[in-house]
Amino acid sequence: MVQNWTPSSWRQKPIQQVPDYPDQAVLSATEAQLASYPPLVFAGEARRLTKALANVAEGRGFLLQGGDCAESFAEHGADNIRDFFRAFLQMAVVLTFGAQQPVVKVGRIAGQFAKPRSSNIEKQGDVSLPSYRGDIINGIEFNEESRIPNPERQMMAYRQSAATLNLLRAFAMGGYANLDNVHQWMLGFIKDSPQGERYRKLADRITETMDFMKAIGITSDNNPSLRETDFFTSHEALLLGYEQALTRVDSTSGDWYATSGHMIWIGDRTRQADHAHIEYCRGIKNPIGLKCGPSLTADGLIELIDILNPANEAGRLTLICRFGHDKVAEHLPRLIRAVEREGRKVVWSCDPMHGNTITLNNYKTRPFERVLSEVESFFQIHRAEGTHPGGIHIEMTGKDVTECTGGARAVSAEDLQDRYHTHCDPRLNADQALELAFLLAERMKGGREEKRLVVNG
Ligand code: PEP
Ligand code: CO
Repeated sequence: MVQNWTPSSWRQKPIQQVPDYPDQAVLSATEAQLASYPPLVFAGEARRLTKALANVAEGRGFLLQGGDCAESFAEHGADNIRDFFRAFLQMAVVLTFGAQQPVVKVGRIAGQFAKPRSSNIEKQGDVSLPSYRGDIINGIEFNEESRIPNPERQMMAYRQSAATLNLLRAFAMGGYANLDNVHQWMLGFIKDSPQGERYRKLADRITETMDFMKAIGITSDNNPSLRETDFFTSHEALLLGYEQALTRVDSTSGDWYATSGHMIWIGDRTRQADHAHIEYCRGIKNPIGLKCGPSLTADGLIELIDILNPANEAGRLTLICRFGHDKVAEHLPRLIRAVEREGRKVVWSCDPMHGNTITLNNYKTRPFERVLSEVESFFQIHRAEGTHPGGIHIEMTGKDVTECTGGARAVSAEDLQDRYHTHCDPRLNADQALELAFLLAERMKGGREEKRLVVNG
């Protein structure tokens, strides 16, 4: 049991990124009501995810985590969820083939509503208003009424999360995630992509493998693992009052779990060791992510690991590294060495999005080449250090948006205005996301062949 911890002990600690709710009584009443509602996920599911991540920590799996930067109330259609899931599953199949390992699938979805901001105020012309902090807190429209934090929004976020999760569970278990379907979608992508020829070799090998399985009688009719999939949810645990309201005791183990999602993570701006977000997360049993940016020292990281994973349990902690394509070589090796020296079990994941944001034509964007370059460096560095590059964490959508530049269709700075829909940071569109998966799978395969050559002399 965790010492001196309760679901509300974070309230005694200093805290960053708190919204300024005008009416504390309404806020408390909302939190009390949420506390009486059903959990969104079960402890047993979170435990299953921890187990899957333990395999990743031990080098026997790969974590694919991704989704919107911020989910929105406006975009809560079934199409959005379906298109995301479809793109995500295709990535997972390609990566499974590339890694020749199980891919653990974790969406930034069904709860990813609260955003940390670098400034409390947004200024447009002469008008200054509170910054937008995500739909669970306030509205994105630039007017005073919308920008005032409103507790009612937490109810909306809870209900939207429940509906999203319900559809995702149906997709995952009800036949939509059938490997034959995913394979057909992937062939459609290859046919339409300007770089399709480049990816065809790998796709052909997947097709051959599937034909072979069929020939020997392994089909989705007789094998549930070909027609069902494990899919988990995650979000940044930023709005702690909401998280506390959904923190429940698991009757099987007596442990506390966050039931707002299977995995939650701590953002790069809220990871101070003696502050509220670390305090909350240390007491719950879910798998935890920790964003690691350039300002994190090796000693600081070990101190956080001591607090968040004192029992050194594999699968409990995922380090989500987000340095930037030009900084990863400077920062990642020192953190890897400290973790190895101290014998800590972690999953190493690469977020190639948050260190690679630039502004072009007044749009926040991310060049695809830089995203790819950060992941490539991440893989090379792990190979050199003898550690396992365990996963990627990306911001993506299933839609054909124009938010990140580059990729096979070469989205240009001028194209950004066409379909720039994000509520926060720029996301890879469906093609860019799948392309990233193909390019990584090629390299994973290359890495394995290199290793074999070394082993065989
Ligand atoms: C995010 O993941 O959307 C985010 C805000 O990341 P970070 O905390 O790494 O800046
Ligand atoms: Co983001």
